[in-house]
Amino acid sequence: MNKKYVAEPYRIKVVEPIRQTTKEERIQLLENVGYNPFSLKSDDVYIDLLTDSGTGAMSQHQWAAMMIGDEAYAGSRSFYRLDATVKNITNYKYFIPTHQGRGAEQVFLPQLVKHEGMSFISNIHFDTTRAHVELAGARAIDCVINECFDMATYHPFKGNFDLVKLEQIILEKKKENIAGIIMTITNNSAGGQPVSMENMRAVTKIAQKYNIPTIIDGARYAENAFFVKEREEGYQDKSILEIAREAFSYADVFLMSAKKDGLVNIGGLIAIKDNEQLFNLCRTYVVPLEGFPTYGGLTGRDMDAMAVGLEEGLGLDYLKHRIDQVRYLGDRLREAGVPIQYPVGGHAVFVDCKTFAPQIPFDQFPALSVTNEVYIEAGVRAVEIGSLLLGRDPDTNENLESEMELMRLTIPRRVYTYKHLDVVADAVIEVYKNRAKLKGYAFKYEAPILRHFTSTFKKVD
Ligand code: F0G
Repeated sequence: MNKKYVAEPYRIKVVEPIRQTTKEERIQLLENVGYNPFSLKSDDVYIDLLTDSGTGAMSQHQWAAMMIGDEAYAGSRSFYRLDATVKNITNYKYFIPTHQGRGAEQVFLPQLVKHEGMSFISNIHFDTTRAHVELAGARAIDCVINECFDMATYHPFKGNFDLVKLEQIILEKKKENIAGIIMTITNNSAGGQPVSMENMRAVTKIAQKYNIPTIIDGARYAENAFFVKEREEGYQDKSILEIAREAFSYADVFLMSAKKDGLVNIGGLIAIKDNEQLFNLCRTYVVPLEGFPTYGGLTGRDMDAMAVGLEEGLGLDYLKHRIDQVRYLGDRLREAGVPIQYPVGGHAVFVDCKTFAPQIPFDQFPALSVTNEVYIEAGVRAVEIGSLLLGRDPDTNENLESEMELMRLTIPRRVYTYKHLDVVADAVIEVYKNRAKLKGYAFKYEAPILRHFTSTFKKVD
């Protein structure tokens, strides 16, 4: 290590054994599941970097809080504890728990879709957000800055909105057809890239000019605040909580998958700044979709764990280590010449597989090929985010070509050590050295929807 990366700000009290397999076993295991890493049993994975969602380790304080959970159907003590925590962090007036992020999306997003032909605009909609926008009968338009797609070049806030484009879209579509502007912080789909405070402020200004509601999709809002503190002028001396509160002040609504920065295995939330009518609508719809408004699909103990996790997720020592781990993996890969989204974002290292394996055409899924080789090399499971995930054009049925072909190495929170990340880096570097041998994949079975989860493949010779 030639740079400084902070050591773990915790010691390990409970351990979960993980299993090593041989390369021969892994070749067979992957063939058995039709070369789709989603179908591997987690017991057959040594280091699992599929997602940082719900895969974090809870603290002793969270486990202790679970013992005092109140499982009352209505008016649970755990709800009131979480309610106070969320209101304190956001400075918002209203709060509703949900079972996870997509639960919040399914309850909230349809409330803004008032007529046909409406659109949401986001820097980049996360997949489930896009799905719920479309299920609500609206369209999802992305408008991130172009620098986001220039993976090798440094930009401190690659998650930023393109403000000119944003205003153009509003004028083109007409303001009454824009259901809301969704600020995804950090911007997951392009590398967990942060959005600057200046950009959020400017987005809000535009939204107010046209009277459009703003929503923060803040699964990783604390990581975003950390980057603002580190990189944006004037924020160095502010606490993470102060920075987060300022971000919330620029939005009307906060939707969160608490499985990320909430440091829980399950949980989500809707928080509304001051719109009572909107709150009443959500409170009505949450009942049939998620559950009574004081539990929203969660157990009492889940809500207690989340109340503690939300506080811990704002800790500076925790965040420093968290981001350093991701940065460490990114630095090791970059120093070896592996092309990655640079700088690395908050929760994952995104490997640029278009550059890694240019011999594989987009419809033979270069990032799947790299992902599978990394599994074979060391039992490390990553995930493809590219043309396989994107799917087909609903009108022409042609394979859509993704702007980026990425392998996401997603780091769970407080779970793996730097040594584990060395295993990951060594595996990716080894595959990179032999990249000329990588082959593409063709479908053996193609699932009709969300095909990346269940399709099977064969190697193309
Ligand atoms: N918004 C963002 C930005 C997300 O990253 C996710 C989930 C969601 C919403 C949905 O939340 O999973 O709790 O229903 N991202 C996970 C991932 C699945 O692997 O990136 P959820």
